[in-house]
Amino acid sequence: MDCQKHLFSLSDDHHYLNCSFLSPLLQRVEEAGVQGIKGKNRPWETTPDHFFEDSNILRSLFAKLVNAPSAKDIAVMPAVSYGLATVAKNIDPNKGSSIVIAGEQFPSNVYAWKRFCKNNYCQLKIVDPPEGFENRGEKWNERILDAIDSNTLLVALGNVHWTDGTLYDLKSIGTKTQKNDAYFVIDGTQSVGAMPIDVQEIKADALICAGYKWLMGPYAITLGYFGPKLQNGIPLEEGWIVRKNSEDFSGLVDYEDDYQPGAQRFDMGERSNFILVPMMIEALNQILDWEPQHIQTYCKQLTADLENDLPEYGYQIEDPEWRARHMFGIRLPKSVSLEKLQHKLDEHNIHVSVRGSAVRISPNVYNDEQDIAMLYNVLKDVTSDT
Ligand SMILES: Cc1ncc(COP(=O)(O)O)c(C=O)c1O
Repeated sequence: MDCQKHLFSLSDDHHYLNCSFLSPLLQRVEEAGVQGIKGKNRPWETTPDHFFEDSNILRSLFAKLVNAPSAKDIAVMPAVSYGLATVAKNIDPNKGSSIVIAGEQFPSNVYAWKRFCKNNYCQLKIVDPPEGFENRGEKWNERILDAIDSNTLLVALGNVHWTDGTLYDLKSIGTKTQKNDAYFVIDGTQSVGAMPIDVQEIKADALICAGYKWLMGPYAITLGYFGPKLQNGIPLEEGWIVRKNSEDFSGLVDYEDDYQPGAQRFDMGERSNFILVPMMIEALNQILDWEPQHIQTYCKQLTADLENDLPEYGYQIEDPEWRARHMFGIRLPKSVSLEKLQHKLDEHNIHVSVRGSAVRISPNVYNDEQDIAMLYNVLKDVTSDT
């Protein structure tokens, strides 16, 4: 794959290596949003079918991306916190007495479980990484596996750690979780789109994924896969459109007890959003055309030299086998202060994030060698500036 910057409207003066924060917009996604806004000037063109058609297209695209058995397994939501609250509302608290999460996980995937544990007298087991960098990713995965036992009710992880890209072996963790009859819940926000994932292979009961990062969509739309164990649940809201026969607008006051089949019942109110949904569709069409494994390879090739050379200057970085290629954290040498590095990065319009104890670098297909060379020079120079 070649650099895809021409499909975006990025300025040449900025080196944007921060997709983990917020992706830039593809031009085709922007155009879909503009058309969505303009469509409201001609409300007579919107028909009852439009409330369903695009949402269903969106479901099938996301189902394809994560290998869900059916488009009906997908819900359209506003945020990861909403998706995880939906899961928390629908798990059976009698199935276990502990919830396993990783240390320093993104807060949306922590607060839901803290609340659940408080309300249900459950133990929250937070599995921290080991000290030091020797086989850190491997040992962290072992610790997580060790924390899962017959008392486990639910395991909630990301597919990569959101601060530094540490990879979790979801296949092994999912297998152990299933063996212990516990729920397996994944926040896919920091890699679905840029890395392949298969909900059936990892045995996920739910996978929730914000749209505005690696899925390259707009803010305030999230997609969720819900497996068979959760599909008969109760939604957070009691929206009219998720009820059976809601397609028949003339019969909406024939109130229905049943929901639409599958995970559609978990859709947010006004999920047919005529601006955000077409944008998200365009973004997913583009990602499916590129294919996530090619995005991963592109990022790997782009950053290979940088990753090889950084340890020479005292930067610490996870072993490649245990980290993603589209996002990775580096820890600074003692001689480099974060303030000084941030100042230098700002001076050169290089955009990365500091999360937890890591400087997080997250390239994507719009980045080129020039972006990486600029970053490399700053990281190198700052070590000799002391
Ligand atoms: C791993 C992860 N999950 C979720 C989110 C967003 O959560 P929410 O949609 O609840 O705001 C982020 C945002 O940075 C994230 O990094």
